[in-house]
Amino acid sequence: MRLWLLMFLVLAVRQRLGQSASALLPVPAEMRWGQGRLSLKTALRPGMPSTTHPSVIDAVARTLARLQPEKTTGSAVLQIRYGRVGQPEKFDEERYSLRVTPMGVTIDAPTSLGVLRALATLEQLPITEKKQRYLPEVDIQDQPRFAWRGLLIDAARHFMPVTVIKRNIDGMAAVKLNVLHWHLTDDQGFRIESKVFPRLHTVGSTDGLFYTQAEVREVLAYAAARGIRVVPEFDMPSHTTSWIVAYPRLKSNDSTYAPYTLWRTTNVAIDPTRETTYTFIDSLFTEMTALFPDPYFHAGGDENDGRNWRRTPRIVAYMKANKMVKADGKTVDKHQLQTYFNRRVLALLQKRGKRMIGWDEILGPDLPKETVIQSWRGKKGLVDAAKLGHPVLLSNGYYLDLNNTAASSYLTDPLPPDSPLTPAERKLVLGGEAAMWAEFADSVVLDSRIWPRAAAVAERLWSPQASTQSMADFYRRLPTVSAELETLGLRHRIAPELLLKQLAGSANVAPLRTLAEVLEPVKEYKRHFQGFNYTTATPLNRLVDAAPAESEVARRFGVLVDSVVAGGATAAGRTAASQRQMAELRTQLRTWQANDVLLQPQFLLNPSLREYAPLSTNLAAVSRLLLERLTQLQAGQAPSAAWLAAAKATLEAAQAPAGQAELAVVKAARKLATASASAP
Ligand code: ACM
Repeated sequence: MRLWLLMFLVLAVRQRLGQSASALLPVPAEMRWGQGRLSLKTALRPGMPSTTHPSVIDAVARTLARLQPEKTTGSAVLQIRYGRVGQPEKFDEERYSLRVTPMGVTIDAPTSLGVLRALATLEQLPITEKKQRYLPEVDIQDQPRFAWRGLLIDAARHFMPVTVIKRNIDGMAAVKLNVLHWHLTDDQGFRIESKVFPRLHTVGSTDGLFYTQAEVREVLAYAAARGIRVVPEFDMPSHTTSWIVAYPRLKSNDSTYAPYTLWRTTNVAIDPTRETTYTFIDSLFTEMTALFPDPYFHAGGDENDGRNWRRTPRIVAYMKANKMVKADGKTVDKHQLQTYFNRRVLALLQKRGKRMIGWDEILGPDLPKETVIQSWRGKKGLVDAAKLGHPVLLSNGYYLDLNNTAASSYLTDPLPPDSPLTPAERKLVLGGEAAMWAEFADSVVLDSRIWPRAAAVAERLWSPQASTQSMADFYRRLPTVSAELETLGLRHRIAPELLLKQLAGSANVAPLRTLAEVLEPVKEYKRHFQGFNYTTATPLNRLVDAAPAESEVARRFGVLVDSVVAGGATAAGRTAASQRQMAELRTQLRTWQANDVLLQPQFLLNPSLREYAPLSTNLAAVSRLLLERLTQLQAGQAPSAAWLAAAKATLEAAQAPAGQAELAVVKAARKLATASASAP
C-alpha cells in the first residue's frame, strides 16, 4: 500500500474515533473534530490574568483535579479568557468556545459563566484508549437554546439534607442545568428556618427537619460558584397544612389541624379574605426575599379546589360581597378569589423587586402579565399563558417522579416545530424545569430518581433542536454521563445497589439484582393507589425503591428485540449479526428463566421480599415463552393458534404490578412473541 494512502486511512480512522467515542451531553451547538490529541499525562497549567475572579480560579482547579488526578509530566496551557464576571440571575451569557489542540486548551467566553460551561464540557471530553486518557482535538462553539434550565427538588415531602442538595447541584452543573427550584414548603413540612415565625419550621412537620438560614446561605454560595441560580418556592394558598398547624390564624375554617402525614392532596388553603393573612405573608417575605438574592420568587398556587373557601360561610359571604361569582351571578367562583390572592401576593413581591412565578392554575385573564407561569398540567397551559403575554416555563413532560422514560422527556420540547406560538410569543418561553417531587423519594433514593434521566431535560433545553434528533445517540451517551455523575458524588447507582444488598441480607445479591434491574416502579401517580398506604413515616426501602425509574437492561433488551424482529429472524435472514443478536437474546432469556429458581428460597425466608415473588415467576414464564419463540423463528415456523393464545395469557399476567413495581420487559416481549417469521 502506498504510504500516503496508509497515512490517510490512519488519520481518517483516528478522526472517526474521536468523534464517535465522544459522549458530550448536552451536545454542543457546533463541534469540529480534529485528528490530533492531547495526552492527559501532560500537565495542564492554567493561563489566566491575575485579575481572574476567585470563582473561576476555583472552578478551574476543580476541573483540573478531575481531569488530572495523578502525576503528570511536561506542560501544556489551559488558556482562559473571559470578558466580565457573569451573573446567572441577570441571565448573563453562557456562550463559550473551547478549543483543544495537541498543544493545549483554550477557553474564550464573553462572561465567566461561559467559562464554567466550557469547563463542564472539558470534563466530558477525555477519551480512554489502551488505558491512556487523552483529550481529542476539537473546536467547540456552544451556547444554550433556553436561558432557564431548571431542576425542582421537593425538600418538603421528604427532607433533603444539605449534602444531598449540594451533590445534585454538582450534577446539574455537569449537564449545564442552571436553576435549582427549591420546593421548601408543603402540607407535610415547612423546611426553612423562619426567625420571624419559628413555629413554621419547628412544628409544621412530624420529623421537625429544616434548613437553618446559615445552611441556606451555604447552598446559595455553592450554587452561585457553579453558575446556578436558586429559586425558592413557598407554595400558597393551598399545600399549606404545615403553615396552619404552626399558625392556626391562617386557616380558612374552624377545623383543627395536626401535621399532615399522608401524600394525598389536601386542598387545605389559607384564608385569603383576612388582612392578617397578608400581614403574615408580608413579614415572611421580608425575611425570605432578603435571604434569596434571585429576582424570581415562586409562590406556588397549585391544587386548590377551593373546598376550604366554599364551605366557610364567612368566606362565601366575602366572595359574594366582592362579586367573585360565576356567569350565573350566584355561584361563588374560587378562581376569582385565588386571583385576588395572587394579586395581593404579587404586590408584596413587587414591593421587594421580585418577579413572581406560579403554577399554571393561577392563570386567568386578570393575572398581571409579569407573572411567570410554570406549566405542569399540560402543554396547553404553556401556550395559553404565552398567548396572554406571560413568560412561561415548561415542566409538563419533565416530571421525573412519574417514572417515565428519559426518551419521553427528551421528546418533550417547549417549542416544538409545530408550536402555535408567534415569534413574539416564542420569546416568552424562558425554558423549562425537570421536577422531582419527593413523596416516593427520600434522601437515600432521591439521586436515583433524578439521575440520569434529568440529563434528557438538560440536553433538550440546552442543545439545538437540529442536533438532538437521534434518541439512539442520546442513549449511547447517557451511560457515560451517568458514570461521570457518580464520580461527582451522586449516589444514583450505589444507593440502589446498597439497598439490594440490605434486602438480600446474608443471601447472594446477584439474583435479586437480576430481578430488580428489569423492574420499574409503576408509572404516573399509580403508586398512590395500589392498596399500600404510604405515610410520611413509611420507609422507602423495599424492592420497588431499588428498581430503576427506567430500566436500562429492559431498554437494551427492547433494542435487541427490535433489531431481531426488523432483521427477520428466519433461516433466510441469518446474517452473522442477526445470529449474534439471537445468541445474545437467548443468553439473556436463559438467565432470567433460571433466576426465579434462585430467588424462590429468598422469598420464602425473607418476608419483606415476598410481595415481589409473582414478578420473578412471571419473568421466568415470559422468558420460557420467548425462548420457544426464538426456536420457532429460527426454524421458520409460525406459532400455532394454541401457542399464541397461551402466550397472550402469559404476557397479560406479566403486566400485573406487585409491590408497586412492574416488569419492564413485557412490551418488548410481546413484540417478539408476535413477530412474524417471514423473510426480511
Ligand atoms: C404540582 O405538581 N402540583 C405543581
